[in-house]
Amino acid sequence: MSDTTFTISTPIYYVNDIPHIGHAYTTIAADVAARYYRLKGRDVMFSTGTDEHGQKVEKAATERGVKPQAHVDEFCERFKELWKKLNINYDVFIRTTEEEHKKVVQRVLQDLFDKEEIYSATYKGWYCTSDERFWTDKDIIDKACPDCGKPVEEIEEKNYFFKMSKYRDWLVEHINTHESFILPKSRKNEVLGFLKKDLEDLCISRPKKRLSWGIPLPFDNEYVTYVWFDALLNYITVTGYNQDEEKHRKFWPADHHLVGKDILTTHSVYWMTMLKAAGMDIPGNLFAHGWWTVDGKKMSKSLKNGVDPHWLADTFGVDEVRYFLMREVPFGLDGDFSLKNFIMRINTDLANDIGNVTSRIISMTYKYFDGNTPECSHLNEADEEIKKKTEEAIQEVDDLYKELAFSKILNAVWDVISTLNKYIVTQEPWKLNNDEGKERLGQVISTCLEALRIVGILATPFMPEKSRKIVEAFSEVEGYQELVWKTLPGGVPIQKVENLFPRIDDKKTEKIIEEFMEREKTEEENVITIDDFFKTELKVGLILEAEKVPKSKKLIKTKVDVGEDEPRTILAGISEYYEPEDLVNKQVIVVANLKPVKLMGIESQGMLLCGCEEGKLYLASFAGNLKPGSEVR
Ligand code: ME8
Repeated sequence: MSDTTFTISTPIYYVNDIPHIGHAYTTIAADVAARYYRLKGRDVMFSTGTDEHGQKVEKAATERGVKPQAHVDEFCERFKELWKKLNINYDVFIRTTEEEHKKVVQRVLQDLFDKEEIYSATYKGWYCTSDERFWTDKDIIDKACPDCGKPVEEIEEKNYFFKMSKYRDWLVEHINTHESFILPKSRKNEVLGFLKKDLEDLCISRPKKRLSWGIPLPFDNEYVTYVWFDALLNYITVTGYNQDEEKHRKFWPADHHLVGKDILTTHSVYWMTMLKAAGMDIPGNLFAHGWWTVDGKKMSKSLKNGVDPHWLADTFGVDEVRYFLMREVPFGLDGDFSLKNFIMRINTDLANDIGNVTSRIISMTYKYFDGNTPECSHLNEADEEIKKKTEEAIQEVDDLYKELAFSKILNAVWDVISTLNKYIVTQEPWKLNNDEGKERLGQVISTCLEALRIVGILATPFMPEKSRKIVEAFSEVEGYQELVWKTLPGGVPIQKVENLFPRIDDKKTEKIIEEFMEREKTEEENVITIDDFFKTELKVGLILEAEKVPKSKKLIKTKVDVGEDEPRTILAGISEYYEPEDLVNKQVIVVANLKPVKLMGIESQGMLLCGCEEGKLYLASFAGNLKPGSEVR
């Protein structure tokens, strides 16, 4: 926390999920703040990433028959791809499986163990596999997890515990004495309410026999670290802790950790007490934003009714998505995504307001001054009003960024736009294009241009591409990126700006809504369209060779002729059900356009389809004799 740097983070997302607008929301918000502070000249550290350890990941990988590392490598890309599409300019993308991070986790664990902040004890409690956490007798409801509702099992085992309880009073005091520590304010009371109950010590280990996909405890190799203890430490790994002390001192403590309200407790209680015990500085702010639903329904992790951000960005534009999410709901409150509201905002706020005012001002500059800035030696009262309004907006926006009040920031910018529109109407520049009016016309256009330049800069963090086009129109003006009102020098060429936000007319709206409903229906009913089906290329294959993969209980390596120049190497998890020699000369169905994966060091170039009954696999085949490579449909 300093005036020269700015550190902001998003949660690191679970790799198993498909990123939806909820994930995009937090990440866009962090990106907007990071872009603003970069623009203000701060040295910014904006981090995001993926949370890759834990039972759920291990289970998902096993189910797919791949190693956890291969699984997380593949799934992490989905997040990276989306952030690229949404123009997210992060400084660090952290993955908890990276070596640097593992070292940080082990160092902190060892430090806390040496300081006797961690102890071992036998623990008896109710374990929820899905949430990967223990519950006490009083927490569980009908032997089910109070969080996810899934059945819990009673477990008694030795584990390691972090002395979290002893920091309760300190934490309450810290929250009460640091006004902006937890925002929005309503959430602060929620955490204080939670802390009224006894705070227990935190179980930070999992026996390897139950879970191997984690970071080993440095002081007991039979255990791995609890996934949250591992994940939370990402925030100091990204600032260079344990690797680059100078960088760490520069960027730690963070200015803001952005989280959804679902994980406020883990951040405000687990993370802050961990930092306190480790003797590290406490971040300035934890901002717990609200929850998005889609047309009133919860967004499911499988994206059954989650709006696909790729589709939204492709259909409406990246800047439009970013703008809508930041504008529609005050940051901190819950929001409901409705396509109709989205389209309405594109047509009003973007096409009518900022788009229209831009094209109006630029076209007047061309019409009356051949595309050059007019001479303007002084401003009259009406022009001064615009200048004042714009300067006040610059200040107001700066203040609002401190509270991450994104929708209010946009309101302040749009206030300037509407004042500017009114100013154009009252000044009637089109009546001034004559000998007596020309000087006044110059003042009006110059005022409009300068206000537009500032509006463009203020909108840039939200809509980097479209706003850049506004700002770049002024690129011949010295210091055109500076966020201060200046009197524009005369005679400088201004670039033309294309129609930034075309209106979405009723016909197009209808078509998009139809497509959206179709997608929702498909997702809800869990059916796919014929186009989806044809994305999978199925071919007739003939097994030429088969052998067991050494050291693997399940895998058989096959060479399969699929009508290509060379046979393919395909691994199949069927060793428990078939002897390799029985497979040779069998006709099989091959998924031919699957991305190759490496299993036990061997690249598998496809998949063999099987029927499955009571966990036993049977290779799918044909009633007739078909040529290898023939299409299966
Ligand atoms: O909790 N509305 O990861 P996660 C708004 N790995 N925001 C939403 C949302 C919704 N419907 N759904 C998800 C984890 N989010 C842990 C975090 S951090 C050290 C470890 C956003 O993949 C929101 O930011 O479940 C929420 O907190 C986060 O995604 C949860 O992501």
